[in-house]
Amino acid sequence: MKYDVIVVGSGISGMRAAIEAKELGANVVLITKSSPSANNSFMAKGGINAAFGNMGDNDNIFQHINETLKSSVDIGNEESIRIFCEQAPTAVRELVGYGVAFSRLDNGKLAQRPFGGSKFKRTIYASDETGPAIMKALYDVIKENEIDIIKNHMVMNLITKNNIISGITLFDEETQKVVVCEGKSVILATGGFAALYKNYTSNVKDATGDGIAMGLRAGLKAMNLEFVQFHPTGLEGTNFLLSEAARAEGGKLVDENGESFVDELNTRDFVTRAIFKEMQKGNKVYLDLRDVAEDVIETKLTSIKKRVYTLKKLDPSKDLIPITPVAHYTMGGIQTDVIGKTSIKGLYIIGEAGDNGVNGANRLGGNSLSQGAVFGKISAYEAIKFANKMKKFNGVDYYDVTKDIHFVEYLQARAQYVDANALRNEIGQIMFEKIGIIRTEDDLNTALERFKQIEESIGTRKDDKPSNVKSMLELFNILLVAKAVAKSALLREESRGSHFRIDYPEKDRKFKTNTLVSLSDL
Ligand code: FUM
Repeated sequence: MKYDVIVVGSGISGMRAAIEAKELGANVVLITKSSPSANNSFMAKGGINAAFGNMGDNDNIFQHINETLKSSVDIGNEESIRIFCEQAPTAVRELVGYGVAFSRLDNGKLAQRPFGGSKFKRTIYASDETGPAIMKALYDVIKENEIDIIKNHMVMNLITKNNIISGITLFDEETQKVVVCEGKSVILATGGFAALYKNYTSNVKDATGDGIAMGLRAGLKAMNLEFVQFHPTGLEGTNFLLSEAARAEGGKLVDENGESFVDELNTRDFVTRAIFKEMQKGNKVYLDLRDVAEDVIETKLTSIKKRVYTLKKLDPSKDLIPITPVAHYTMGGIQTDVIGKTSIKGLYIIGEAGDNGVNGANRLGGNSLSQGAVFGKISAYEAIKFANKMKKFNGVDYYDVTKDIHFVEYLQARAQYVDANALRNEIGQIMFEKIGIIRTEDDLNTALERFKQIEESIGTRKDDKPSNVKSMLELFNILLVAKAVAKSALLREESRGSHFRIDYPEKDRKFKTNTLVSLSDL
């Protein structure tokens, strides 16, 4: 397999990149770990930000820049934020052109709702099904444009020569073999790692930080991995996200006495910590939609109404809805420049897999879908420019491939003795308890030590339940990323945005910078 541009990951960043590359005439492939709909863009329900100012509140691009910068708590990259906010309206118009049916005002303009951390109604939406509406439309364009799609292939490693990208190795789930895909340029849009918080996450189970693990193994640095965003309102006991749309449309957060205890439209880190404090006191916390008009629930919170009933037999118009914060989005990733370029020539990393500084210590809700659309498009343009400069393919050193083939053979032999699912449960528990909403040095060290022990045990375990090669590959990535997150959180001896250290509860000017972690630190 040989392509000008390889795109890995079928979320909004990957699909948008693949469409742009194809429209610009490139020979492009879109590769996905399982099916094209198994990604977190599909799970992002509440909306997509762009400063149209359609609601008469004088919102504009400068306000979007200011608020995104403020939410990043002084460490966002001004240049990437500027590019993002300036391009977001065009990106949304292009989505409309691709057929996304956003909700409209009576005057025909795109409707916008308020999201946390903003004084403006900036979030464009399609009821509370915005992610699915976008992703279905983009997937239709992918099919219409006859873009090659490879499904059920998990990316294993980057192949490089002389610091130039040559392609990637993949694990084919059907044949259980290693496959090589050569490319003149590669765009990784493999997503973040919030699924490491298993049983405490809104994410699809595939979000295991594969791109970050690959980047680290290829010698790149991971930046700001300590910044993990907990969404305030997961539906208790499930991984269903009660979208911020619910609070945007008038939902309140209340304690067991029905009393309000926080401004529900503050930034997510703030709201989450307020809820967590209530829970630590032994109190239950609820989303209260009882004062929201029935027709608003029917038309703008459609999926919430449906799912709350299916999962909990509750009626949002009558019942309080029990909530708990869930790991939702990871701000850090492999360090890139402002548009996603890495220090390996021809390799671009976008979305949650990379960190171009656009979110800093905390992302504003609604910004991620538009970031995917903006940087997906830009990275495709850059990747094609690079591919065009390469007269021929860089060539593959087959030592790299043999190494992965041997690793898969080793995993085939070991998988029968390793209960990867049980280990993922344990890692999820540790991530939540020790590297969760509130952290301490002791807890972080305990977590790091346990991850190392688990990693060392894999060669000799004799568990009762077997696994398969894919879950073993994921387990190795999970452990590498988990160690990197613990290490990054130890390095940042302060509290900033989503990273809260109880032993360093204040923001400290010394840390107005990025943490960086390499493979050799782990
Ligand atoms: O609550 C939500 O709908 C999530 C949106 C986001 O994370 O951007």
